Amino acid sequence: MPQLVEGQPISDFRSDTVTRPDAAMRAAMAGAVVGDDVFGDDPTVQELERDAAGMFGKPAGLFVPTGTMANLIAVSVHARPGEEVFLESLSHTYNNEVGGIARFAGVITRTFTGDRGAIDPEEVARYARPGDLHQPRTAALVVENTHNFWGGRVIPLEHMERLWEVAQAHDVRLHIDGARIWNAVAASGVLPAAWGALCDTVYFCLSKGLGAPIGSVLLGPEAFIAEARKVRKVLGGGMRQVGVLAAAGLVALHEGPGRLHEDHDHAQALARGIAEIPGAVVDPESCDTNILFVRTEAGAASYGPIADGLRAAGVWAIPLGELGIRFVTHRDVDGEDVERALVALRELIPTHGRGA
Ligand SMILES: Cc1ncc(COP(=O)(O)O)c(C=O)c1O
Repeated sequence: MPQLVEGQPISDFRSDTVTRPDAAMRAAMAGAVVGDDVFGDDPTVQELERDAAGMFGKPAGLFVPTGTMANLIAVSVHARPGEEVFLESLSHTYNNEVGGIARFAGVITRTFTGDRGAIDPEEVARYARPGDLHQPRTAALVVENTHNFWGGRVIPLEHMERLWEVAQAHDVRLHIDGARIWNAVAASGVLPAAWGALCDTVYFCLSKGLGAPIGSVLLGPEAFIAEARKVRKVLGGGMRQVGVLAAAGLVALHEGPGRLHEDHDHAQALARGIAEIPGAVVDPESCDTNILFVRTEAGAASYGPIADGLRAAGVWAIPLGELGIRFVTHRDVDGEDVERALVALRELIPTHGRGA
């Protein structure tokens, strides 16, 4: 059902971050038992960190404000300034975190274009450097799963196994940018602990598909988390009575994952509907989870006008250059919103998106 924004019905597909905390989250926030988390005595934060770590089979966890900070902390702990980090070319950490890992962690990067986001393990093996007198040591590999700019693609477990083997063989730490790893869990049926077993560190966002207003949890070995806690403090991320936020996070963690398949079904319905529109270039088969990039025969020049037309119709989605117009499904859009989007696109794509 469309949400009312300034009195107008809006179907907001811009991101799964736009969800508003539900009644259960708000009640949990209001009743949260809190302490000063910088002194290490906020029981609600500790419960969240413990529960999340347990699910992924990791010894310890750290509540952080954002996914961006989780990635920056992970890279800062895994790599010294001047060392090298491997990333996929379209990864969020490389493209959309304002160059933070260069600016604050001081690392150099090497990017690899993966097969729909999945970096070839042989490439990792070929380019990983132990760090002789002249060369930077390759310290870490960041794997994004699901992969945002590759349309929410799940990097399959077997592929993760191969990357994990190669990373270990070359003494490279593997960090999963699991902003949406719960979507991978929902789509694949593979439990969190199985993904957690194939990396040194992983984090996930509470503030995306799980529906919390804020927060991510970074997971890894005790020593890693102890150092991560220190880096979080350096970055100004030491938060005090933050159990009020962790309380919403706990609701999201325990109740969010079970409904993500609904988001995937909505994305699939959208993909199938759009694929039938003349001029649309969309492959429903490659829509694994809750993200869909809509492209057209006319290409990038048409995405701005189509997105403008959508907006005028009360359907919000983001044009992202050559990648297409991104639609993300989440708990605040449903079948009615999908239908509204399709009605608008049936008019807009044939008008702006047909090939010559
Ligand atoms: C794959 C991925 N990683 C990291 C982030 C950053 O998360 P945040 O917005 O919480 O900083 C995002 C945000 O969209 C993302 O999609």
